[in-house]
Amino acid sequence: MFLIYLLPALSIIYFLYTRLTSPLSKLPGPLYTNFTPLYLIYKEFTGNRRTYIDSLHTRYGPVIRISPSECSFSSYSAMKEIYTSGAPYLEYYAPRLAEFFDNLNSKRSRSVPLANDFVLEAVQKPNPASYSLLSKLHSKASELEDLSAAAECMDHLAAGIDTTGDGLCFLMHELSLPQNAHIQQRLRDEINDDQDKSFDQLPYLDAVVKEGLRVFPPIPMSFPRYTPDSGTTLDGYYIPGHVIVSCQPFTLHKDPEVFPSPEKFDPQRWLEDKGELERNRMFFAFSQGARGCIGKHLALAEMKILLREVYGQYKTVLGKEKADMRFDDQVISSRPKGQKCRLQFQKVV
Ligand code: HEM
Repeated sequence: MFLIYLLPALSIIYFLYTRLTSPLSKLPGPLYTNFTPLYLIYKEFTGNRRTYIDSLHTRYGPVIRISPSECSFSSYSAMKEIYTSGAPYLEYYAPRLAEFFDNLNSKRSRSVPLANDFVLEAVQKPNPASYSLLSKLHSKASELEDLSAAAECMDHLAAGIDTTGDGLCFLMHELSLPQNAHIQQRLRDEINDDQDKSFDQLPYLDAVVKEGLRVFPPIPMSFPRYTPDSGTTLDGYYIPGHVIVSCQPFTLHKDPEVFPSPEKFDPQRWLEDKGELERNRMFFAFSQGARGCIGKHLALAEMKILLREVYGQYKTVLGKEKADMRFDDQVISSRPKGQKCRLQFQKVV
């Protein structure tokens, strides 16, 4: 009888002991994050993970434990080590569409968004164009099955479309606020001053786009990586192998040392010489290093060309319907909570 109580009691004592003496227990963070990931999972499922982590950074500083096997950082030194040091921090990644489709050839009809149907049909067609991603995924060197190839294509579509669109949506809304009319005017003046200039020769346009991506990073949440098997030291703390470590742009972009008055939308900050190096290296909207965004230059070109076309000819102001522009975190990116952003375009040229 005594043993019935003793064994569970010893197990609990052993569990508490191992957790409270593990290297991650030395990191700042709420006590419960030593014992369970459940609160973090709850925050993730309710779309609040990013703001939860941000609030922990505000409370505990640049290094925090967020679960028994995961920690988050908000310093340039940790970001550099995790993403650009060349050490084998493995990407914590799996194509996501696969979770929703257990059998591609299933005859069951499912209500799925248009893009999913399109991709699922495309992977089953023979002979894709030789320059396409699909052709590479179907090549002999690749052992991906149709479902995995579809998931990979879908991730590329999502990576390139939602991000750029959502980023532009937040930025154009911000430019349309009455208090930013002077920014819009300065942008229009620069664009129309010399119409022969290419989109990448316009410094104020560049500053507007960067500031838009700083304040409204389309993927504002953590970019997770596993630590190498041998473990690592980040910002003075030893982190064992196979622990998930990450930084998130939402927090890095609000560092007041690098971006004074971080909540203010102020493109001018990107044109100041002072602090230029610090600003550029802390800019994390596209992540950094070998697994950072491969579409960065395309995305910047798309955004600048569109803004030049619009603001060269039009003034935008808020529509009559009020938009709820708070970040609403999706699986991959964030979009406006109200799902709508009404602007009025007024021809000026
Ligand atoms: C403003 C627009 C965009 C933003 C903010 C953005 C952001 C990002 C970020 C943060 C990552 C890395 C995530 C991580 O480190 O875990 C990433 C990866 C990626 N992006 Fe983008 N992206 C944008 C546009 C595009 C475009 C236009 C394309 C392609 C046409 C693209 C294709 C990709 C791909 C394929 C990856 C995965 C790279 C890899 O795993 O090696 N992105 N993007």
